[in-house]
Amino acid sequence: MFSGLSRFLKFILPKGLFYRSLIIVATPIIILQLIITVVFFDSIWIKANKGMTRSLVGEIKAFMDIYNYYPDQIKFFSENYKKNFELDIFIKNQKLPKINSERKFSPMDRSLRRELKSVFGNNMYWFNTTRFKEKVIIKIKSKENLIEFNFPKEKIATSSVRIFLLWMILPSIFLIFIAIIFLKNQTRPIVNLARAAERFGKGDYVNEFRASGASEIRKASYEFDRMAKRINRHLNQRSEMLSGISHDLRTPLTRLKLQLALLNQKEISSKMTRDIDEMENMLKNYLEFAKSQTQEESKPININNFFQDLIKNFNNKKIKLKMGPEIILIARKNSLKRCFNNLIQNGISYGENVYVELSKSSSRLIVTIEDDGPGIPSEEYKNVFKPFYRLDKSRSLNTSGVGLGLSIVEDIINSHGGNIQLSKSNYKGLQIKVTLPF
Ligand SMILES: Nc1ncnc2c1ncn2[C@@H]1O[C@H](COP(=O)(O)OP(=O)(O)OP(=O)(O)O)[C@@H](O)[C@H]1O
Ligand SMILES: [Mg+2]
Repeated sequence: MFSGLSRFLKFILPKGLFYRSLIIVATPIIILQLIITVVFFDSIWIKANKGMTRSLVGEIKAFMDIYNYYPDQIKFFSENYKKNFELDIFIKNQKLPKINSERKFSPMDRSLRRELKSVFGNNMYWFNTTRFKEKVIIKIKSKENLIEFNFPKEKIATSSVRIFLLWMILPSIFLIFIAIIFLKNQTRPIVNLARAAERFGKGDYVNEFRASGASEIRKASYEFDRMAKRINRHLNQRSEMLSGISHDLRTPLTRLKLQLALLNQKEISSKMTRDIDEMENMLKNYLEFAKSQTQEESKPININNFFQDLIKNFNNKKIKLKMGPEIILIARKNSLKRCFNNLIQNGISYGENVYVELSKSSSRLIVTIEDDGPGIPSEEYKNVFKPFYRLDKSRSLNTSGVGLGLSIVEDIINSHGGNIQLSKSNYKGLQIKVTLPF
């Protein structure tokens, strides 16, 4: 039962830290005010009203008795009542009107009705509290006439209710307003930290992250900054080392090639030259891989335009693009270019026709790339992402590749918070499904 309740609470409560803290602060204030209001309303206000109404009805009853027993004194008494009790009294030769303007839920009407009924009985009275803004009219039936009493409302209503409510609500609003300002200031650094961590997770370069807020958050921000810097340093070191090695190896390789050209045994030399060419190709790819690690700023990219340009550059009629809805993706353009270039290039190298389709789900861009080549056996799906892993040593479909393409692709997709999946295509070849959050 409790798990159901907590699930329900989780469902209805807001997800954000700011709104959650606001609820924690505001709920006790509101509940307290409600309790005080109800208690005050019930025990003080309603009771006070009842007492006032009762004494008013007593005054009226006393007048009615005088009217019935000492009719000759009535002028003196009505003047006296006007002076001392603020009651204007008129004796009218009328019938009692029908009651039609009583408000069922007004406490004033309710207590008037109750008191008048208990003192004069049913169908002997009539009153109206709404015709005049500040006056109440009561009419009582006597033997021959109708006696009308006019008096100010405040005789039976304490006017302090509105002021009291105002004093209850205004400070609450003020307190909640102050809480909002404080909470905003407290949650902003956490939100900033979360944002920076998200950006860093997606592979963006977080330059300098300024710590602010409470000491714990400050410490977390500071440690995050240190961690980000350390990871960045590692990444830089790795790519610098890779490009350094690749670069340095190129010179001796070129020298070797020159020397081979001078060699007399042509057969051996041509074999060795082929090997050296392959090594050079590997180094070229190494360098490219190292370059893909360099930091680049994320920018908004119009996906339809991006793929149109990308495919135009291939200048190949066998690549077909099916565009999707307008999507603006915040990403590193050059990395994405390299990634999709590799995928489409694989399609061209291993198949003949390539079909690129763009679509979207609720928060993700979906790119499907299919070809009509031989595909990849499903047990190799994991392996082909490994660096330098190639199936084509045996199939010899594409002899120039080194097997780095898909590892670069996976790296780039992961660093954008995306996902890549291989499966069998409807065109008999390979289907690659890339999803990227936008
Ligand atoms: N569309 C495809 N159809 C069939 N096999 C594929 C396809 N894409 C990749 N492969 C297989 O996966 C292996 C790894 O691909 P990857 O792109 O990483 O390397 P590569 O294409 O051989 O070399 P390069 O580094 O030049 O891209 C390839 O050798 C190939 O056997
Ligand atoms: Mg490739």
